[in-house]
Amino acid sequence: MSSKSFERIRLDYDGDVAILTLNRPEKLNALDSKTRMELKQALDEVEQKARVLIITGSGKAFAAGADINELLQRTSLDSMEAAKLGSELFNRIEELDIPVIAAINGYALGGGCELAMACDIRIASRRAKFGQPEINLALIPGAGGTQRLPRLVGIGMAKKLILTGEIIDAETALRIGLVEEVVEEDRLMDRAAEIAEKIAEKSPVAVKFAKKAINSARSMSLPDGLKYELTLFSMLFSTHDAREGMRAFLEKRKPEFRGN
Ligand code: CAA
Repeated sequence: MSSKSFERIRLDYDGDVAILTLNRPEKLNALDSKTRMELKQALDEVEQKARVLIITGSGKAFAAGADINELLQRTSLDSMEAAKLGSELFNRIEELDIPVIAAINGYALGGGCELAMACDIRIASRRAKFGQPEINLALIPGAGGTQRLPRLVGIGMAKKLILTGEIIDAETALRIGLVEEVVEEDRLMDRAAEIAEKIAEKSPVAVKFAKKAINSARSMSLPDGLKYELTLFSMLFSTHDAREGMRAFLEKRKPEFRGN
């Protein structure tokens, strides 16, 4: 396992899996501009070095949202600029070439919930808590919450959560489709690693194309999405990995993928 330390985050590598830990526990990993800058740097590195990324938090929070101290200093004009940067960061996670798993260890509120929603798969500890409490500050979610939450849980449930600012527990998050699995607290990182390793064994190019095709379902019409799927599917036939995958199946052996 190798590690790299920043000020607000920690980045560890376990083989092909990168583990990024938000590491400002005394402020419940509130996302300030320094954290966002370090996250951006880490993503650039991780996309080159790892096959799967796990994002988690240290202490009792995954992330308790944007840093309210910083928000208070903003005017409408610079808020637009800063919110745009936050939004772009989460878009970058969503569009990263490698899959991202959120291992949600505690509070995922506001920007923390938005960060989790930008990840591809969400695994929650039984003690995790979720919500978009911006309305209590006379704000609304500003990093994708009004767009990604309804896509995951439906419009009515998203309105209920965003308009009331209600905090929900992990079991409720599972029931409404905000997370994919809930596990005991002490199993969280093992379970996230199990899923990450399973994905890391596959062909990276097929994994990348599968993620791209599924992401396109957010914005494309069904006919366009089906065409896009067909294009990506056909392109895979020119890869070494697809030949190798099919041959290995027929020869009853483990495939050796190269990522091209
Ligand atoms: N920003 C800045 N500081 C925060 C913070 C945040 N979002 N959340 C927690 N903190 C700080 C607290 O101020 C406190 O600092 P001090 O010890 O220096 O006083 C420290 O973290 C510990 O927090 P609490 O004492 O409040 O811990 P608690 O266990 O009593 O409560 C909590 C936990 C319910 C999560 C509570 O901290 C809380 O409600 N946090 C704010 C949640 C929130 O409103 N998030 C949305 C932010 S806006 C946003 O995210 C906009 C967007 O869409 C991008």
